[in-house]
Amino acid sequence: MPDPVLIKVDPVGEAAQVTPAINPKINHPKINSPTANTPTINYLRISLIDRCNFQCQYCMPDGETIEYLQRTMLLSNDELLRLLEEVFIPLGMTRFRLTGGEPLLRRGLVELVQAIAQFPETEDISLTTNGFLLAKLAEPLYKAGLNRINISLDSLEPEVFDTLVGSKGRSRWQDVWDGIQAAYQAGFDPLKLNVVVIPEVNDHEVEALAALTLERRWHVRFIEFMPIGNEALFGSRGWVASEDLRLRIRDRWGLTAGQVAGNGPADVFQIPGALGTVGFISQMSECFCDRCNRMRLSADGWLRPCLLNESSQLDLKTPLRQGEDLVAVRSQVQELITQKPEINFKERDAGTTGRYGRTMSQIGG
Ligand code: GTP
Ligand code: 5AD
Ligand code: SF4
Repeated sequence: MPDPVLIKVDPVGEAAQVTPAINPKINHPKINSPTANTPTINYLRISLIDRCNFQCQYCMPDGETIEYLQRTMLLSNDELLRLLEEVFIPLGMTRFRLTGGEPLLRRGLVELVQAIAQFPETEDISLTTNGFLLAKLAEPLYKAGLNRINISLDSLEPEVFDTLVGSKGRSRWQDVWDGIQAAYQAGFDPLKLNVVVIPEVNDHEVEALAALTLERRWHVRFIEFMPIGNEALFGSRGWVASEDLRLRIRDRWGLTAGQVAGNGPADVFQIPGALGTVGFISQMSECFCDRCNRMRLSADGWLRPCLLNESSQLDLKTPLRQGEDLVAVRSQVQELITQKPEINFKERDAGTTGRYGRTMSQIGG
């Protein structure tokens, strides 16, 4: 097993630092080398499908119809693997996260995981899911070589949960809980649970959710609600600062520095004596753009350098399907990687319209 990327938190508990791991097997082009100010771009979030079987309030616009991609628009497994092999891996990408919509809805997922895991350059392959279909899939995915899994669990109260995820009729909470247990049983470690905290919806559950880490090696991450996906809800509810949540947890149990494998923006802490950790993803109160190590590939083959800036996206599907030389595509991607520090959102409005063309579910978070 290669060394994981560790997210370190200083003892005072505020400054998180990502240590990029560089795969010595790959001749990293200079263009994708870390400098004092820019990290290596080695992490690709791959959206496998834009559809989702949930309608989380924070992720999708209320009452609006979303135009979904026709199946033929989605990159096939073979197309995706070609792009990885001929474009992304040669440019130094070694860490892959599969997202959606809901990635467990994708046909051929287990085979795809197996193929990505088998690339010698792959250092980490992970998946973010709502967990609804996980009870049956956790073990096959683990056996296929998936290293890590992040599951959304916004509430421990079935009623709150069902309202948040838009369950119509039948409650979905138990299925998700069973999915989490199945992932734990299958051996996923670390197992991370994502909680988007929304004022007066689920913020009263912060202590109960943090308490899950006391006796389980689970890693609960509290995410500041971002104004992308459902801006109306964001406008009426707002967000809760991670520091406020930390104070509440610290008051109850105390809080020290923590550590868990990952590639993301979470600041990690631990309740003293707990088996798991609590993490905070604080995109509203702390801009982490300068340490951003990732690009995003949409299910229909658009490469997006920044979650919050829609400019400079690159269409990879068209040249791929037209049989163009992928060496030329690789050069374009390399150029985009070079430009990424300038494209990164950094709390500016550059390139955004105030309304995003794609919802969070279509981008994959
Ligand atoms: P690991 O640390 O590798 O486990 O993954 P992660 O935390 O990056 O992945 P996950 O899919 O669980 O994302 C958790 C939250 O972080 C989601 O709300 C994402 O939208 C948010 N997030 C991930 N990457 C970015 C980013 O580049 N910018 C911003 N603003 N938010 C991000
Ligand atoms: N703000 C913050 N996080 C969000 N997610 C979806 N929409 C938002 C939003 N508006 C999170 C989900 C999931 C991850 C992929 O993105 O909770 O964990
Ligand atoms: Fe919820 Fe994820 Fe589906 Fe969005 S994509 S509705 S966050 S489960």
